Amino acid sequence: MKKIVIALDGHSSCGKSTTAKQVAAELGYAYIDTGAMYRAVTLYFLDHHVSLTNPKEIKDALNNIDITFHYNPKTLRNETYLNGLNVEDEIRKMYISNQVSEVSVVAEVRRAMVAQQQKMGKRRGVVMDGRDIGTAVFPDAEVKIFMTADVDTRARRRQQELLAKKQLVNLDDIKENLQKRDHIDSTRAESPLRRADDADLLDTSHMTIDEQVEFVMHKVASKLLEQ
Ligand code: DC
Repeated sequence: MKKIVIALDGHSSCGKSTTAKQVAAELGYAYIDTGAMYRAVTLYFLDHHVSLTNPKEIKDALNNIDITFHYNPKTLRNETYLNGLNVEDEIRKMYISNQVSEVSVVAEVRRAMVAQQQKMGKRRGVVMDGRDIGTAVFPDAEVKIFMTADVDTRARRRQQELLAKKQLVNLDDIKENLQKRDHIDSTRAESPLRRADDADLLDTSHMTIDEQVEFVMHKVASKLLEQ
């Protein structure tokens, strides 16, 4: 059967990655968490004190960054590696969430990540979640979904996720971080977060993960039958 690209874009913490992972597993597709790539770049920039206003430092840093994903049979998940080191847990911490949108604004960073993502998906058969997949990375994706949910629901879900990783974070701090990131992500000059004209809107405020997966799988099935 023909393989397609499924683009799941949208606001922070509205269930994109959980939905994307399950859809990829059901289809036997690769799952690519593009947010993890921006988070890994942010970790590198912070560790190496890269100045966001120094183009040379940014260019040199990007030349030294290698991001890969490897499946961990113990945790049953794809984990993010930065220059050969597993950074999966580190990049989910709040100090990274608090900086990642500023790093993602940098045009050089976006160009490098988009090129890598296009390479990863060039044979298709991928589910990619992010902010600009349906608009910039794969404007020709066969299925495009734009996900959102009300901010209080998203903050509560995020708090539960962090709690599961033994990170106790105040709900107001999480909400503030989500709102700030949404704002920066949506207003940046380079490939801002926006719903592609041909993307289906999915508001997950009152939906379970199973319902979200079903919504996407329904769109995938119609697309595959149409080909
Ligand atoms: O999906 P996430 O919350 O882990 O993403 C972290 C940040 O990375 C998000 O606030 C903006 C940035 N990002 C982006 O600019 N483009 C993408 N395709 C994915 C994420």
